[in-house]
Amino acid sequence: MFKPLRFLLVTLLLLVAPPSFAQDDTGAVSQERETTGGAQTLQDILERQRGLAIDDAFRRDATGTENPIPDINSALGTRGGPSDPDIYRAIRYNSASVRASNDGPAAGVFIQDGGMRWLAFRDGPMRTYGGYLLLGILGFLALFYVLRGRIRIDDGPSGVTIERFKPVERFGHWLIAGSFILLGLTGLVSLFGRVAFIPLFGKDTFATVALASKWIHNNVSWAFMLGLVLVLIMWVAHNIPNRLDLVWLAKGGGLFSKHSHPSSKKFNAGQKIIFWSVILLGSSISISGLALLFPFEIPLFAKTFSWINATGLPGLFGYEALPTEMTPQEEMQLSQLWHSILAFVMMAIIFAHIYIGSVGMEGAYDAMGSGEVDLKWARQHHDLWVDEVLAKSPESAKPTTEGG
Ligand code: HEM
Repeated sequence: MFKPLRFLLVTLLLLVAPPSFAQDDTGAVSQERETTGGAQTLQDILERQRGLAIDDAFRRDATGTENPIPDINSALGTRGGPSDPDIYRAIRYNSASVRASNDGPAAGVFIQDGGMRWLAFRDGPMRTYGGYLLLGILGFLALFYVLRGRIRIDDGPSGVTIERFKPVERFGHWLIAGSFILLGLTGLVSLFGRVAFIPLFGKDTFATVALASKWIHNNVSWAFMLGLVLVLIMWVAHNIPNRLDLVWLAKGGGLFSKHSHPSSKKFNAGQKIIFWSVILLGSSISISGLALLFPFEIPLFAKTFSWINATGLPGLFGYEALPTEMTPQEEMQLSQLWHSILAFVMMAIIFAHIYIGSVGMEGAYDAMGSGEVDLKWARQHHDLWVDEVLAKSPESAKPTTEGG
């Protein structure tokens, strides 16, 4: 609504004290810092609003430290020392010498404005792009199913089976799989719960769900880590890359053609990619998860960044260096972001894995279900492995009860 009195007052004020802005040919506004008494200029404010990094040395360094408080016995007593803004700036930039009654690792940091950047990223791009990634991969798999259909056993099953995974292997698989699914679901509740559940079920219901979800997430993580170790020990030897993998990849794994399946031992190149993704992403998610589970005890990033700086890598991308001094809170914020970003990537990869291990390929699920697969399926996808097993013990191939 137009307010004539306010308009008049503002106009009068501008006439009496016109702002000291200059505008260049491109329309960009500039203002000398002296005109603000050394405080931020309009330019600083505009650049910050655009999300650009500004050189904040004018504030960071203006903490009144060159002006120590005059001795109480001197002419002006304690007057004339650092002003309140000086002190708050020093607290904000972590250069004030402060003491907190709590001596926890993060208690000495009174103001941590980086927390807002973390929150904005977590509630913004992280949710948006993470959500799109998962929906995108689901859409891709649905499209793949429509175009390619189920990958069948060429000319149908043989009725003879062979043992693919021992009970201990299936236990390790389902331990990591079951715990990952629980961790994924409860992690998504933490990230999306406030925006997705509160409008649907209200705050009280969400509080109960969030609490249970956090409890499950924190405790099931141990089962996941155990599963990760078991899977690593049992299958690492079968997942060392070799020349066959290149041929397999060059032929697209035979996914797009019938009767032409590249040779493979126990695991093909596609499965090795899944295996190493699970091991590497799973380990990094576990380590950053432990850093979150034991707050401030496992700082990971300052050290990692100094290693990366030493390689000279940031310079190649036009950055001076990654920050190597950070508050304990920043360490936690980075752990949280890293944990969630990798979890999204791993969930996307696992969606594809679940698809191919269930609806996407006839006969695949049996490998982890009963542990016995049809011999024709095995020859189609893992011919060299079948040769090895039958050479060792020809009696491992058994007719199924129904097949006779
Ligand atoms: C309902 C979910 C899942 C199903 C139906 C499923 C199914 C399967 C099947 C059938 C295999 C054996 C493939 C073969 O015989 O060659 C397998 C292997 C494997 N699974 Fe799963 N899986 C599931 C979830 C997961 C999850 C959540 C993870 C890890 C977080 C995982 C990790 C692995 C790994 C590392 C292998 C060995 C490499 C490979 O075959 O790709 N699985 N899975």
